[in-house]
Amino acid sequence: MSADIELAALATTVALATISAATAWRWSRRWRDENGRRTQLTAELASARTEAARAVAALAGASDGLIVVDGNGRIVACNPNAVDFAQLPPLANGRRLQDCVPWAPLPSALELAAATGEPQYFELEADPAGRALAVRVRRLPDQGVVVAIDDTSRLKKLESLRRDFIANVSHELKTPLAAIQGFVETMQDDLEMPTTTRVRFLDRIARQTERLTTLVADLLTLSRLDDEGDQARERRPLELGGVVRETVRDLAPLAEKRQVRLALAGPEGGMWVRADREALRQVVGNLVDNAIKYTGAGGDVRAQLAIDDGRALLEVVDTGIGLSSEDQERVFERFYRVDRARSRDLGGTGLGLAIVKNTVKGLGGEVGVRSRLGAGSTFWVTLPLVADRGDEPFDAP
Ligand SMILES: Nc1ncnc2c1ncn2[C@@H]1O[C@H](COP(=O)(O)OP(=O)(O)OP(=O)(O)O)[C@@H](O)[C@H]1O
Ligand SMILES: [Mg+2]
Repeated sequence: MSADIELAALATTVALATISAATAWRWSRRWRDENGRRTQLTAELASARTEAARAVAALAGASDGLIVVDGNGRIVACNPNAVDFAQLPPLANGRRLQDCVPWAPLPSALELAAATGEPQYFELEADPAGRALAVRVRRLPDQGVVVAIDDTSRLKKLESLRRDFIANVSHELKTPLAAIQGFVETMQDDLEMPTTTRVRFLDRIARQTERLTTLVADLLTLSRLDDEGDQARERRPLELGGVVRETVRDLAPLAEKRQVRLALAGPEGGMWVRADREALRQVVGNLVDNAIKYTGAGGDVRAQLAIDDGRALLEVVDTGIGLSSEDQERVFERFYRVDRARSRDLGGTGLGLAIVKNTVKGLGGEVGVRSRLGAGSTFWVTLPLVADRGDEPFDAP
């Protein structure tokens, strides 16, 4: 009996032990599983947080305007550029995008993108702020769409500048070429032409050819300046006064021919700037050449140097025809000429001041004009002075 009881007790103990071992094992497995799941969830949460932070940062820093819209067409998130481009009202989150933005192509783009998954694209020529916008609508993987808005005004402006530039270049090339062609054809048609006429025609051809050469040289200079940007070519300290004196000396015969008095004022030496001599010569040459060209006989042109606010200042002052305030703003544009016919007669291409501006900007300086119509003009250039030349080799004339 006792053996039976013992056996039963033993069986019970074994059974209990087996049960508790199984339970313990199950519990421990569940604990392990849950612990593992917890660790996994924590990792997933951390990575989701990082992703979200990254997305928010990307959204905020993106140059495009970005608007995330949920499956019901309501705004979930947007970045500052989107608020600006789409003129979103304050607290737009949660509102329907279509109610906030009046763009006609938007509703169908949102609908099509959501329904078909095909990205949609449309352009707005001028939004209320007068900008050109390009809008892309894309479906998101789960649901909802993202609207990306790009401000294409700058691109459009550049495109139109490029078109104008090409039209201008073609026109400037066409005129001398047509003249040359005309003279050549006349000479071919009349082989017995008197020598004096032939010589006159050849002179004209030579002048037009010279014009074409100048034009192409100016275009090449501008294109080089555009390519170089802020990168310096070989630039050594050189004395600005020396370059101005040389240039004024070179242009003295032209001033004499046009009966314009040409003078130079300012300190002798001591104005060191970092520049490439040829480029600087071209800057000073263009300004003094213009001053002489656009000042009638009996007028005065003065190139004066000074140190102003720690910078070298060159002013080219004339008593010539002057410029209206409208023209003062535009004379530095490529091909801009107040009086096209007059400038062309004087051999100008309208690229001189554009070259001056680009060169001076590349040297870290500034350029401008003060003028009154009929009362003369002052074109000025400032350049950074070289503070301490030390033992650095310099560019002597
Ligand atoms: N000192 C000045 N006084 C009055 N008008 C000027 C003066 N300098 C320039 N301008 C005006 O600005 C225009 C542009 O000048 P810019 O030097 O770029 O061209 P340009 O002298 O006509 O030709 P280029 O310099 O290529 O030979 C001139 O055509 C002229 O109308
Ligand atoms: Mg000029």
